[in-house]
Amino acid sequence: MTTEPGSASTSGAEPADGRGYDLVVLANRLPVDQATGPDGKRCWQRSPGGLVTALHPIMQSRAGAWAGWHGQPETAPAPFTHDGIHLHPIELSDDDVDAYYEGQSNATIWPLYHDAVEQPVFDRRWRQAYHSVNHRFAAAAARLAAPGALVWVHDYHLQLVPGMLRKLRPDLRIGFFLHIPFPPVELFCQLPMRDEIMRGLLGADLVGFQHPQATRNFTRLAAHLLGANHTGGVIKHEGGVTTAATFPISIDVAGQQQLAADPHVRARAGEIRRELGNPRTLVLGVDRLDYTKGIEHRLAAYGELLADGRLDPADTVMVQVAVPSRQRLDQYQALRERVERTVSHVNGRHAGIGRLCVHYLHQSYDRAELAALYLAADVMAVTPLRDGMNLVAKEYVATRTDGTGALVLSEFAGAAAELSQAWTVNPHNLEALKDALAEAAAAGADEQRRRMQPMRFHLRRHDVNRWASAFLGQLDRPARQMPA
Ligand code: ADP
Ligand code: G6P
Repeated sequence: MTTEPGSASTSGAEPADGRGYDLVVLANRLPVDQATGPDGKRCWQRSPGGLVTALHPIMQSRAGAWAGWHGQPETAPAPFTHDGIHLHPIELSDDDVDAYYEGQSNATIWPLYHDAVEQPVFDRRWRQAYHSVNHRFAAAAARLAAPGALVWVHDYHLQLVPGMLRKLRPDLRIGFFLHIPFPPVELFCQLPMRDEIMRGLLGADLVGFQHPQATRNFTRLAAHLLGANHTGGVIKHEGGVTTAATFPISIDVAGQQQLAADPHVRARAGEIRRELGNPRTLVLGVDRLDYTKGIEHRLAAYGELLADGRLDPADTVMVQVAVPSRQRLDQYQALRERVERTVSHVNGRHAGIGRLCVHYLHQSYDRAELAALYLAADVMAVTPLRDGMNLVAKEYVATRTDGTGALVLSEFAGAAAELSQAWTVNPHNLEALKDALAEAAAAGADEQRRRMQPMRFHLRRHDVNRWASAFLGQLDRPARQMPA
């Protein structure tokens, strides 16, 4: 469903009835993207992500509001309703985009929280911008929320919001979910904003993480940095109580299975294989072009397998889909150059006329095309150096409704805690990565099914709806204990 920009069905930041919304979601991005409709006019379209799919029915039934950035610097559109959800664009100036989004969020916190696989950059101007944009989000939530409402804050861009909002509106139930890893004490302590971020997060009643290790890192930090008491995930600090718990995010499993059954998608999968020359083995990688994803490690391992003769370039093809991401940042531009150089190196050495070894696609695709790729792939290579969860791994498993397909999965992806029957691997160990890819490529249908069935069983019971209800259910429980 689409809505024209400017066709606001509510105006001003406050809700129409003046009472406020019972559920408010805050995330850096709104759950809609601007697109061009069939009539050539600009319009809003629901973003394809799992978070949006999961929250959509809950937001509709609770008449919820979502505040976030609409993706362009400067003037934010007026609040509007799209598909039954009230959307409240938060304005970011050019300077905010530079300092809060690209700087503090994506050049400091993102690399640091991902094991510092790239060197985090520290800049004090970015910290001021992070603080002021977080305050803008907190103030918006304070205006939007009804008395006693639930406010759910998402991800690393907004870690100061719970503490700020708690001061503005002590009546609210505040939840925070971190979609990326939470680092160990020694890494987190490099952050000049470390105390402020911890105090910000401890403003929440409930802080959720993807993996038990992240939850443990957080509770340890609260004790180490702020001297907070904690037992079993319950942290007491300055008269407030925050529960830290693990809620591994998932995908819309039923929706993914429906796509897998769609005759157009199935036909497209066959077409993709034909277009690639009907290879014996199709190896697939699908990632945002991000240095955390281990794309270079994967390409290096694949190149060596071809060079060693363990994979035959005559009947093996790799497709690497790399969605453009954060393209103005130096680290992302440098990564793109390195990846493209490696792709041409592997092709230069092993391709033939009309027969590439690696098809590199630096593009975004719709869900149906991605599902067709998942159906076409014999081996799915998911090899991040560190990843909060990795939904691509779950999407691949959910799409393989006949139980075939081989998933090679980094042990540093959150998904490895659940998808333990995959060929799990340490992507830093090139020989191990080569072995995992070669074994996955050689596995017969029985071996594939033996591994795939329990993963599919697990996913069917742990979809994204279960994730959202588990988090909101826990957030809805007894009120935060305040000092007597
Ligand atoms: P991250 O959130 O770090 O990008 P995830 O694997 O958790 O990594 O989620 C990526 C999401 O983006 C998945 O839902 C996946 O389907 C989607 N995606 C990946 N590649 C593309 C692409 N080329 N075009 C559109 N969506 C993509
Ligand atoms: C990760 C983050 C999200 C972010 C997404 C895309 O999944 O956890 O918060 O929205 O990457 O990154 P972008 O910078 O384009 O929003």
